[in-house]
Amino acid sequence: MRYEVWEKLAHKYNNLWVQKYSLGPTRREVKKIVLPLLEKNDQLKILDIGCGTGQLIKEISEQYHEVSYLGIDVAENMIQIAKDSNNGSNINFRAASIESFESNDKYDIIMCMHAFPYFPNKEEMLKKISGMCTDNGQVIIVNSSTNSLKDLIINFFLKATTSKAKYLSIKEMKKLFDMANLKVKNIHVIRERFYMPTIALFHTER
Ligand SMILES: C[S@@+](CC[C@H](N)C(=O)[O-])C[C@H]1O[C@@H](n2cnc3c(N)ncnc32)[C@H](O)[C@@H]1O
Repeated sequence: MRYEVWEKLAHKYNNLWVQKYSLGPTRREVKKIVLPLLEKNDQLKILDIGCGTGQLIKEISEQYHEVSYLGIDVAENMIQIAKDSNNGSNINFRAASIESFESNDKYDIIMCMHAFPYFPNKEEMLKKISGMCTDNGQVIIVNSSTNSLKDLIINFFLKATTSKAKYLSIKEMKKLFDMANLKVKNIHVIRERFYMPTIALFHTER
């Protein structure tokens, strides 16, 4: 099964070593964008696609209780942990792939951290994400990216531990944002250690 590896990883996910140098720093950088937006307006709707165990929603919702949160993930085990570690009537999690996810709602902030490389048909998925965003809504995507021989080698080994993956370059991602009608506001590279690949954070706006 394409996504089985994530079901198996779920129970050790919060203790993986990448939490320290990749996933944790990513949450820190995403919060630098999201928290000031919520400070101005705490009635927003947030969608986290490929939310894993719901760590970021937990960290944000502890500070902003009024916001409406939805996390989706293809792995039921990830979603079960997310549900067990979050509570509040405004916090919801749903086991669904981005391919199958349907929603009548639009979201003010859509986050997708370290999940986009595993999506099939990236152009179509990004257009779908863009379509779920409110006018002037924000889409934040973060993932490993291949921009050098060093990135290529590290991502080759990373790929061996995940579901089928493609770690696009910053240039390739910019092209996809263009096609999905998302304006790139800022690109920030997260690099906590020299042996980590380029982790690119794309802050875009509809
Ligand atoms: C590396 S984890 C990232 C989890 C979380 N966003 C974080 O930053 O810690 C990748 C997650 O993407 C999910 N995922 C992979 N492909 C997906 C898809 N097509 N639709 C929804 N979720 C997907 C996996 O189940 C996994 O939980």
